[in-house]
Amino acid sequence: MCAKNKYRSLRGMEDVLPERSQQMEYVERTAREVFTSFNYGQIRTPHLEKTGVFTASIGEDTDIIEKEMYAFTDRSGDFIALRPEGTAPIVRAFIENLWKNTPDVYKLFYFGCMFRGERPQKGRMRQFRQLGAEVIGGKGPFIDAELILTLEIVLKRLGISGHRLILNSLGCRQDQDRYKKKLQEFLLERHEDLCDDCKRRTKSNVLRVLDCKRAGCKKIRKNAPEVSASLCGACCEHYDKLKEILGILDIEYVERKDLVRGLDYYTGPVFEAEHDELGAQSALAAGGRYDELSSRMGGPEVGACGYAIGLERLLLIIGDDKFPKSPEGILIIPQSEDLTVEAFKVAAFFWEKGIKCQIDHSGRSFKGQMRRANREARSFVIIVTEKDIRSGKVILKDMLNKGEQRLMSLQDASEEVVKLEGLAIYDGGK
Ligand code: HAM
Repeated sequence: MCAKNKYRSLRGMEDVLPERSQQMEYVERTAREVFTSFNYGQIRTPHLEKTGVFTASIGEDTDIIEKEMYAFTDRSGDFIALRPEGTAPIVRAFIENLWKNTPDVYKLFYFGCMFRGERPQKGRMRQFRQLGAEVIGGKGPFIDAELILTLEIVLKRLGISGHRLILNSLGCRQDQDRYKKKLQEFLLERHEDLCDDCKRRTKSNVLRVLDCKRAGCKKIRKNAPEVSASLCGACCEHYDKLKEILGILDIEYVERKDLVRGLDYYTGPVFEAEHDELGAQSALAAGGRYDELSSRMGGPEVGACGYAIGLERLLLIIGDDKFPKSPEGILIIPQSEDLTVEAFKVAAFFWEKGIKCQIDHSGRSFKGQMRRANREARSFVIIVTEKDIRSGKVILKDMLNKGEQRLMSLQDASEEVVKLEGLAIYDGGK
């Protein structure tokens, strides 16, 4: 006997069981269709990277780097980390593999696990999944708009409504430096009333103060200078054009002047999709432009923009009952135990053709297996009897049609269930 619950999964890291796995696959399939229609190619980067990939990009004074990254020294003494996000590894991969000194624009999408040692709660895990898209190599606002459009279409295809697209522009690095100085001056005058985190951040990473949820800090911020007043002409123009294109596309958005992001690499427009059903962790997706990241990581000076959707948060919104149910498949039932081998051969015939079917391995009697088929609402069962299988035939029992039974050849039975139930998974290599 094994001791119950001796080993449990780590806090904030869930086992994905088959039903949830199917839901994830459905979401990924939907997103893949959308990204592919926009001509994005899938990229898969390793889960582990040199720690520097993240410290150089996300920023040393961010929560992710300061306290959430799973970083350690491996056996050869290298500092490595489980990726807390997908953008920095993709820029690293772009510099390493894709960049060929051409003006090409690379359009990439990705699905995968990210790791952050945050305090787990609803919608906030330590291992979670993101669906993301990055466009590297281009600067115009049409790229930002295209990315936002992919996000909107993915959400629409998944039947999600009621989200809000929040928009802001942080401006280029020079704009941000100017703004940070103004904000710092403003906050230093009110230093005593800020919480301890904000006091520290005023000096180390002042934009993060705009993210503090404490009521006292929020009140102080009400009169703080806004980033929009520090944008240079080019950044204003880019941001205005983006809003114009979103208007043309009928994409609704709300501007929020204090929207900053928890990662330091953004320059220019940033955005989030919020959904009220998520409660405190309201961000369903987030992203923005990060034109300086490639050069900061030793690559060329190229524009880049992207976003990521939180897969677990998407599933919370969609809800279990909204996913299409796939048919259970056929249960192949031998009339008696000594026909198990024959039944297995019948199943093999169906599996070979890519038709979803199953043998009951639990040792149930014939009656028990029929009860199971009823309980699971199977549309068809195939009954294997000694007399019929000798002439290559089986009984196809239509469970949804008063249990009507028809004797037919294996080939006919396979064609019938594909026709009536669409149970074929494999298309015969067509
Ligand atoms: P992020 O805002 O850190 O941005 O994460 C994007 C999304 O991932 C969030 O909006 C949320 O839905 C989900 N997420 C984040 N943390 C957790 C967590 N602990 N548990 C569950 N879901 C979570 C990024 O990661 C950027 N790389 C996005 C980006 C791509 N920017 C440009 N390109």
